[in-house]
Amino acid sequence: MTLIKQVLLNKKTDLTPIWIMRQAGRYLPEFRKIRNKNPNFIELCLNSKLTQEITLQPIKRFNLDAAIIFSDILLLPYGLNQKVEFKKDFGPLLGDLNLNEISKLDEVDFVEKVYPVYKAINLVSNNELTKNKSTIGFIGAPWTLMVYMLNRQSPKSKLNDDFFKDNFLINRILAILDKFLKVHIKNQIDNGAEVIQIFDSWAGLLDDKDLPNYVYIPTLGLVEFIKSLKVPVICFPKGIKNYKTYCEIVKPDAISIDYNVTPEEIRKNINIPIQGGLDPKILLTDKEILKKETKKYLDIFKDHPYIFNLGHGVLPETNPEMIDYLVKFVKDY
Ligand code: CP3
Repeated sequence: MTLIKQVLLNKKTDLTPIWIMRQAGRYLPEFRKIRNKNPNFIELCLNSKLTQEITLQPIKRFNLDAAIIFSDILLLPYGLNQKVEFKKDFGPLLGDLNLNEISKLDEVDFVEKVYPVYKAINLVSNNELTKNKSTIGFIGAPWTLMVYMLNRQSPKSKLNDDFFKDNFLINRILAILDKFLKVHIKNQIDNGAEVIQIFDSWAGLLDDKDLPNYVYIPTLGLVEFIKSLKVPVICFPKGIKNYKTYCEIVKPDAISIDYNVTPEEIRKNINIPIQGGLDPKILLTDKEILKKETKKYLDIFKDHPYIFNLGHGVLPETNPEMIDYLVKFVKDY
């Protein structure tokens, strides 16, 4: 069994497994080389051979315990026929949302649009380089996807006041997302994803009173679905204030924490396996600081099932040498 799977089963292991969010990405020159030749990001995500190659780039360089499939949470609205573009120095930009159109869509059409993602997972999980490593599939949580589908771009720090005005629309989108996210999850698992991570990057935008409707209830349904397929699920509700309540209600197999929470508090209050936490900006400093900060997390979670990771994705300006140092330090700890 892979090290990550052992931790997810709540086993204490002698070695701490490590993988890194956005481990395949712009901080790697070999990624930038492929990216420069492929200006259309969605098309790149739908090229199974290149996706496989990109997914394996960090695996070739570093002794990581998981390969996370190179794709994006916004392939889901793309599969629902909403226009999705990635603009340089801006980020994602989505087209208008046509409720009639997405309500009509059937499963076969959706799968046909995104099937290269599943093919890539198949290639990666069968590749010699991922032997003894976990292949991680992922989705965006319904709340985060709805934010992109309605806001049509990253919301920065808050939502427009009229975001919640059309209750009918919101409930229809959540129902449609639930249906197609299950299809997306099932196909990833059928093709070799051994762990699923749910990214709820905008969970922190909600007031506590709105968390049940938009975060807890929709995510719990998906967590239960993934568990019914006998696959472990890690949730990352970034920026949420109360991780303990989230864990008690949503009950993931592991919780990924961001860098704004105090790891000591988390350690005290949460008894499921924990992942992540280190601020990605630490990788922009120097090796002494990196060592000190990494050791802090490893010490705190010494007697707790823990997967080393960052508190958000690795930044594009990171020097790959710092990742090398980090992985070696965690492995030698
Ligand atoms: O972690 C990995 O290595 C797997 C690949 C992965 C990507 N996106 C590739 C990507 C994963 C797991 C994601 C998830 C994702 N995508 C999230 C959730 C995690 C998070 O970051 O909060 C979100 C919110 C998105 C939507 C998205 N995709 C944004 C906001 C952006 C632009 C911001 C940015 O970092 O440029 C993307 C583009 C994107 N997705 C890139 C990569 C490597 C950069 C694309 C490029 O090369 O220009």
